[in-house]
Amino acid sequence: MALQLGDTAPDFEAETTEGKIRFHQWLGRSWGVLFSHPKDYTPVCTTELGYTAKLKPEFDRRGVKAIGLSVDPLADHVGWSRDIEETQGCKVNFPMIADPERKVASLYGMIHPNASDTLTVRSVYLIDPDKKIRLTITYPASTGRNFDEILRVIDSLQLTDRHKLATPVNWKPGEDAIIVPSVSDDEASKLFPQGFKKLKPYLRYTSVPR
Ligand code: BEZ
Repeated sequence: MALQLGDTAPDFEAETTEGKIRFHQWLGRSWGVLFSHPKDYTPVCTTELGYTAKLKPEFDRRGVKAIGLSVDPLADHVGWSRDIEETQGCKVNFPMIADPERKVASLYGMIHPNASDTLTVRSVYLIDPDKKIRLTITYPASTGRNFDEILRVIDSLQLTDRHKLATPVNWKPGEDAIIVPSVSDDEASKLFPQGFKKLKPYLRYTSVPR
């Protein structure tokens, strides 16, 4: 069965561009973004990896480690990294897993045989410090992912973990959040002394505590 939200992210050992890793040990207490791409030396993937490298300060600020994967061998990852740096203006600064035997791809269900029985699709797994899967996204091979959206979800999840708040449609950091329904108005007054706006008993907005 496919991995679902709340499942423990499977552990594995793999060869990467930064040496052999055991995944859980490599993650430590960080959050992780594990993402697969269909193939090395392909145009859409080249742009995605370059952009992810540029986001490193944003990932670091949120305590997140990024790690890529494709079913191509290590030598291809190394050669292609040079092209990524040349064309995208940023050195790849995170490990890329070489998974030619498709061990990790199979463990995570990154091969969708009715799309392609050899290539990995564009999967994203966001993993929290307890190794639980908190987000899964699957994109088709021809569509580059929106990594800004992945950052936005990280911000939302980290906010939800700290406060009894959820985030509304198209929420961005700095905007008001929603008080979760399990919190009574009395409790909300204590938790959010800045006050809240009640549009309906179940729809209450408040500013995000700092
Ligand atoms: C790409 O990364 O450009 C790509 C990979 C597989 C199929 C289509 C596009």
